[in-house]
This record gives sequence, structure tokens and C-alpha cells, in this order.
Amino acid sequence: MNVSARDSRFTFDWLALRERADGQARSWRLTRLAADFLRQCDPPLTMVDLGCGAGGNSCYLASRLPGPQRWRLIDHDADLLVQAAQRCRVVGDSEGRALDIETWLHDLNDLGAAWWKGVVLVCASALFDLTSRDWVKRFVAACARQRAAVLLTLNVDGHWAFIDRRGLVDDDEDDAWVKALFNAHQRRDKGLGVALGSEAPTVLRDVFIEHGYEVEMAPSPWQLPAGDPDTLELASALVDGWLDAACEQEPASRMRLADWHGRRRTALARGKFGVRVGHVDLFACPRPRQSMQGEKRT
Ligand SMILES: C[S@@+](CC[C@H](N)C(=O)[O-])C[C@H]1O[C@@H](n2cnc3c(N)ncnc32)[C@H](O)[C@@H]1O
Repeated sequence: MNVSARDSRFTFDWLALRERADGQARSWRLTRLAADFLRQCDPPLTMVDLGCGAGGNSCYLASRLPGPQRWRLIDHDADLLVQAAQRCRVVGDSEGRALDIETWLHDLNDLGAAWWKGVVLVCASALFDLTSRDWVKRFVAACARQRAAVLLTLNVDGHWAFIDRRGLVDDDEDDAWVKALFNAHQRRDKGLGVALGSEAPTVLRDVFIEHGYEVEMAPSPWQLPAGDPDTLELASALVDGWLDAACEQEPASRMRLADWHGRRRTALARGKFGVRVGHVDLFACPRPRQSMQGEKRT
């Protein structure tokens, strides 16, 4: 899926291709909860976008959140960071004020970095399937020390399916087999330990609760309808990505996988089927300390 499994690099084209579907899938309710949280904090509101890629997440959120906003865009890919900063510089907060943008070229293995200073909201999109259980524990502990709220969107849940023209699931035995191979491939180490893949939403929920957070979750699936010319390219790229991952996972089954791929690709192109990909959004908020109740957050 235009990603190298070993070092977790993503192409700009892939991120651009998914951005519209991401925007349509996100939970409005959880974005509003993040906005409500920020209204209790003293400005400027310092936020980070972890694994920001080309800035799709921060650009989407900025105009829906109060300000003034200071964003720390963090990624290990210097080219994507440049794109992210350029795009965020032309976006405003919910009242149209310009954003204060910092870029941090940084490997997220190191969570002890200076970019935590003053952070009130930690954001990330399409990142946590790449992370490991140990990494999540370190990450949540760092959020709790900072008493920051967290908005983590578009975390895959492992439930993708072909859907017919009525939107009903139409999977067969081979689809289930490819899905199992793909989900196993997602567990490979992407640079932050053995990857959580589709387990990420439940692990995040449990670890945030252990740290005294209140957690809200909402489904945010991509719905790519059958016969929709606007989403056919994304649906086709997904099926290609599932093939590549499944072939890497089980090279001996290459022929059967190619057969499956040809069949599903043709059906997509003919508008017979579309694709649904399950994601979950999560908002986690630190419970107010007894002494802090009623006070404004700083
Ligand atoms: C699937 S992309 C999502 C990008 C963006 N958040 C979005 O929603 O469009 C994952 C991003 O995480 C970044 N990433 C992956 N592993 C990383 C690491 N160890 N340190 C820093 N960034 C990392 C990648 O470079 C990529 O930009």
C-alpha cells in the first residue's frame, strides 16, 4: 500500500488519495469533544500531530477547533513534513486566525522529546496500527504526565469487506483468507515494535482507562460505494495493497492470490462491488484532579 513495511515510509500520493475518504469517515462528535476540551484551556493552544505525514489530519482539525493554535507537526519523513507545513500555513483556526506551525523531524521511538512542552491536545491519524503495545504504554504514560487530551483518528479495526450495490457485505471464502493474511502482515514490526495492527483501538482504550482517562470511541469506516467513480482509485489501490501484503505473507500462494485479485479488481471496475474499511476514532480526556475541578486548565 505504497508503504515500506521495514521503515514505515508512506508516499505523498497514497496520503493524498486517502484524504477525502478520511475526511468523510471521521467522527464529528469526537472532534467536537476535542473542541470542547480546548475551550477550557488557556491559549495559545499547543497541539501535536504525531506521524503527521502531509498534514491531512492537522489541516482537517485546525479549522474545526478553537484557537489561537500552535501546532507541532512531527514525522520522520522530511519531505512529508515540508508538505505538511506548507499546507497548514494556509489554513486557519475556527475563527480564521493563522496557525503557528513548527515542524519536528523526529523518530517516534523517542517519546522523551522537548515537543511535549505545553501540549494540551495530542492528535494522530492512521498511525496506531504501526505502533506496538509497549510503545502505546510509554505513549499513554507520557500523555498522562502532561495531562493532555488525545484525539486519535482512523485506527484500522481489521474489518474490511466488499459491499454490493445495496451496501451489504458480499465476502467469500477467499476474501476471508486474504483478510487473515493481510491482518497478520499488519502485525509486522514497522519500526516501533511488533505492530498492533487492528488491535490498536482496544489496546489504546484499555491503557488510557488504566491511566485514569475517560475514553470515547466512534466508528469511522471508509465507505467506497460500488460504481462510484470518485472512490474507485482508492478502492483499487486498497485491493492492490492487500494483494502485495498477502503475497509477502504467503509467497507460496501467489497464483491463488493473483486469481483473487484479478476477480475482485474486475468486479470493482465494473461497479459490481465497493469496499468498506473499518476504522475507529478515539478521544481520551484526563479526569480532572479533585483540586483542579472547576479551575481553568493551564
Ligand atoms: C499512514 S501515515 C498517516 C499520515 C497522516 N497522519 C495522515 O493521516 O494522512 C503514517 C505516518 O506516520 C509516520 N511515521 C511512521 N513511523 C514513524 C516513526 N517511527 N517516527 C515518526 N513518524 C513515523 C510516517 O512517515 C507517515 O507519515
